[in-house]
Amino acid sequence: MSKIKNLNIKHFLSNSDISKNDFLYILDLAKNLKEKKCEFSLSNKVLGLIFTKSSTRTRVSFQVAMSRLGGTTIDLNPSTSQIGRGELIKDTARVMSRYCDAIAIRSYDQNDLIEYSKWSSIPIINALTDLEHPCQALADFLTIKEEFGGFEELVLSFVGDGNNVANSLILCGAILGIEVRIACPKGFKPNKEILNKAFEIDPNNKIVITHDPEEACFNSNILYTDVWSSMGEEDDKDNKDKSFAGYSIDNILLKKAKKDAIVLHCLPAYRGKEITDEVIESKNSRVFEQAENRLHVQQALLATLFSEQLAKE
Ligand code: CP
Ligand code: NVA
Repeated sequence: MSKIKNLNIKHFLSNSDISKNDFLYILDLAKNLKEKKCEFSLSNKVLGLIFTKSSTRTRVSFQVAMSRLGGTTIDLNPSTSQIGRGELIKDTARVMSRYCDAIAIRSYDQNDLIEYSKWSSIPIINALTDLEHPCQALADFLTIKEEFGGFEELVLSFVGDGNNVANSLILCGAILGIEVRIACPKGFKPNKEILNKAFEIDPNNKIVITHDPEEACFNSNILYTDVWSSMGEEDDKDNKDKSFAGYSIDNILLKKAKKDAIVLHCLPAYRGKEITDEVIESKNSRVFEQAENRLHVQQALLATLFSEQLAKE
């Protein structure tokens, strides 16, 4: 059994909850787990999953992560639990704290997660909100580290909507010292508070916001995109399709980047919209490695969240 460092992370609501050193530790632990160089057990541990929105990767990777480590998950789907009926978060959080060992929550409002964390005595993990997608970002940066060996001098260019995925990339860029460039249409800039937080983390951070995808992708190492219409925006899809026309990673844009640039997408993708089929299937694409890494980083995250208890066992 491997010894896991206690990082003193109570909840994981945002990438900004962890320091650069803790971030790097989680990535190294994930890589060691992936290469089967370390092992630990979460037997008898129960992870509750409260998913108010659909999910394939996040839900399944948490379920498989817990199962492989000897623990289990319990599905607290709002439509089949009293959560959907409107039971107060403060009541659900206190009850679940007495049954489960941690809860991963996918919700709309980041404030819901903050409320859960206030009332819960067990770790709360952000499995995506409208504001951030921190578990995704851990997998993204493991994929980048595997490709480039480190983060020095790297430029990551995100083309698309300045919402949850882009916000998390901005925070991680500030933590890890990567230049993050966001190319988005007018009216779809990243959240102001996220930008302020990135400047608090690193006053010299290299964030660029532009409306020009070519400018953003010029000489870049990593091109990244996400859907134009996120979950919850289905009714606005036609308008968003119009606003985002041209904000697509295709072969022309890929040629603006460095020769050995990689292409990332959190998935699910709409081929022919934010990314072409050709690019997602190209030799530059790392989207399936990235998706696989969800599993490894989440195992590492769970290990660090439970490290104090693991040390006592
Ligand atoms: N990338 C991601 O979070 O995918 P899911 O919505 O399938 O979980
Ligand atoms: N921005 C997307 C990410 C999906 C993983 C959404 O919120 O739907």
